[in-house]
Amino acid sequence: MGVSKRGSRTYDRRHNAVKQVASAVWRWAGAVSVRTKILGMILVLVLLPGIIVTLQVRKGLNSAFTEQLREQSVSIARDVAARSTDLILINDQYGVAKLLRETQENNPDVRYAFIVDAKGHVLVHTFGDGFPGELLPANSVASSAHHHTVLLHTDEGPMWDTAVPIFNGKIGIARIGLSESRMQASINTMTTQLLLTTGIVAIFGIVAGFFLTWILTRPLLDLVHVTEAMRKGDFDQAVNPWADDEIGELAKAFNTMAVDLAHAEAERAKREKMRAYYLRRIILAQEEERKRIARELHDETGQSLASLMVGLRNVEAAPTREQMLARLADMRAVASKTLEAVHDLALELRPSVLDDLGLVAALERYIGAYQKRFQVGIDFQSVGLEDDRLPPLVEIAVYRIVQEALTNAAKYARSDQISVLLEKHGRQLSVIVEDDGVGFNADATMHHALSNRKLGLYGMRERTAQLGGTLLIESEIDKGTSIYVRIPLVRSDDEDNPDHVGR
Ligand SMILES: Nc1ncnc2c1ncn2[C@@H]1O[C@H](COP(=O)(O)OP(=O)(O)OP(=O)(O)O)[C@@H](O)[C@H]1O
Ligand SMILES: [Mg+2]
Repeated sequence: MGVSKRGSRTYDRRHNAVKQVASAVWRWAGAVSVRTKILGMILVLVLLPGIIVTLQVRKGLNSAFTEQLREQSVSIARDVAARSTDLILINDQYGVAKLLRETQENNPDVRYAFIVDAKGHVLVHTFGDGFPGELLPANSVASSAHHHTVLLHTDEGPMWDTAVPIFNGKIGIARIGLSESRMQASINTMTTQLLLTTGIVAIFGIVAGFFLTWILTRPLLDLVHVTEAMRKGDFDQAVNPWADDEIGELAKAFNTMAVDLAHAEAERAKREKMRAYYLRRIILAQEEERKRIARELHDETGQSLASLMVGLRNVEAAPTREQMLARLADMRAVASKTLEAVHDLALELRPSVLDDLGLVAALERYIGAYQKRFQVGIDFQSVGLEDDRLPPLVEIAVYRIVQEALTNAAKYARSDQISVLLEKHGRQLSVIVEDDGVGFNADATMHHALSNRKLGLYGMRERTAQLGGTLLIESEIDKGTSIYVRIPLVRSDDEDNPDHVGR
């Protein structure tokens, strides 16, 4: 158990080290430009195989040539031994010297040749200025052997020296030395040519790489340039699609995205302007409302209370009990009217039933008053809202939306029948207000809401959007108008979430 744990720990450590090295390499390689990456790859791909192939060819040629040289040295030495036999037997030293000279002339690789007699003395040799003594003991051959070849390291480089017995060794030994220098020279020439070819291919590769990276990076740099401009808010820039390839596709997709972004930005700016205007209007309306309430309190309630005060004084001064009772009755009437007025005022300010009894009861009360006021029939139904209370922000928003829809219907629709449906289904609340009135062009009205200073429908949409819901208005001329609102119901502890703030 302990061993396997240690093993897995070692594996983890190694794995982590490999990951660290890989990420360090990538950090370094990732930071260089695309051009450097591509040029580096081309250089590695051309130079590495070029050098490997050159080295392999050099090695192959070397061993093939060496073997050939060795065999050549044996065959020349045997030839010399065979042809010199008769000449030595008749003691024709001049003929032997001529044979050796011809042999050297016919084969440029032969650096030297000499004949050693049976006593071990050099009989004839090709060294013009004296025979090098150390060469004699460097190679020998048994008289029974076919030949014996050794590689000698001389001042002139490696030399294949072959000794062949003449007439079974009875009259001497023929020795031939073949130099490797010509072979080395031709191998070096071949190596140089291969390296030169690799170099030329690498230069072509670099030129092609430069061209390729130029083609690849130019449009990408254009894209970066335009993205920068867009980040600074300039959406008018467009990328010029260079070709019809993948990068061209990217440029076209980018341009389409830029157009969409420009539209979205314009839309956002417009909405922002409308929202600011709406807010200003709301603040103005609140001020207006305050003034109206102040006026009402002063003119109506204040007057009533003043008359109550006067009345109380009158009660005190009443001469008879009957007169006092009559004055008290008047005052009760004034008090009850004042109470009613204060109650109405409070109801207008904020329907207390909404807080106390909930949305359905508040709407029932509002619709009841509305029917009496406008003489229109309203069919109000609520489904799934019997038990739970809705979140307060949803209740006030829906109350105001229905209020505005009904006010609009009263103001413009000239309809006979209106229906209001409130339905809670799972975690969704839907509200539908329909009338069979004159209808209107909803899209155009919404579009020009700001310029026409119409805030009712816009406010409905704002309230719905603030609760994460959707509003749909369908209206047809002479057929009527339907307003659909859908609001997702969040848990009450989510209400503080800024995404769900309502007014
Ligand atoms: N139910 C409806 N039937 C017919 N036309 C309607 C109806 N509701 C709205 N409209 C039309 O849409 C326009 C915009 O309504 P909206 O409630 O936004 O503004 P408003 O009622 O004119 O003003 P505000 O509500 O700001 O006091 C109205 O002027 C009216 O022409
Ligand atoms: Mg309105």
